[in-house]
Amino acid sequence: MITVQSVKEDAEVRAIMYIAENQIEALGFTEHSVRHSGIVSKWAGEILEALGADPWRVEMARIAGYLHDIGNSINRNDHAQNGAVLAYHILTRMGMKFLDAADIMMAIGNHDESKGLPVSDITSALIIADKADVHKSRVRTNSTRMSTDNLNIHDRVNLAAEKSYVYVDKQTNEIVLNISIDTQICSVMDYFEIYFGRMQLCRRAADFLGSKFVLIINGSRLV
Ligand SMILES: [Fe+2]
Ligand SMILES: [Fe+2]
Repeated sequence: MITVQSVKEDAEVRAIMYIAENQIEALGFTEHSVRHSGIVSKWAGEILEALGADPWRVEMARIAGYLHDIGNSINRNDHAQNGAVLAYHILTRMGMKFLDAADIMMAIGNHDESKGLPVSDITSALIIADKADVHKSRVRTNSTRMSTDNLNIHDRVNLAAEKSYVYVDKQTNEIVLNISIDTQICSVMDYFEIYFGRMQLCRRAADFLGSKFVLIINGSRLV
């Protein structure tokens, strides 16, 4: 059986993720590599597990989470759609059933807020997990672009995020994104400027899952 672990160890996956991260680094974007993929994989699985999905769907969500950004190996533009097709071919080559690989393909192809929509349970969990990963460790502090004056709003928002995690509150049936922001670095308004569209998509994704999306910033419930 294919597991997220066997996907992580696959030589083709490793090569493509290495190239994807090279491209993202060259473009000066925040980190999208193994750390981000690993976190998104874990959270996507946890969301579906907490909502009572069967173990194979949970594992499929983990696999979708791990592979969701491999399209960055081709081009940042349309990386969701390109990555979806790449993932389909990798997973069927590894022996996954066509139907399951296609389900993961659909989820990956819909994870980006520019064109994506929550069209399945796996897609919805992936969208929320991906948008929840905002953290200062994603900012490339070793980059020459990081001579502080050159920080863009994405860097500032990520750099200000001390802590960010997502969980399902089973009692209230809410999917909660809890973020701590250092307001010396970025205002809550900056965060919203970047994340408004993403939060709307998270709300729709939670709707699809039959839950409510809640955003907590610095202890205050905002959505
Ligand atoms: Fe992405
Ligand atoms: Fe991502």
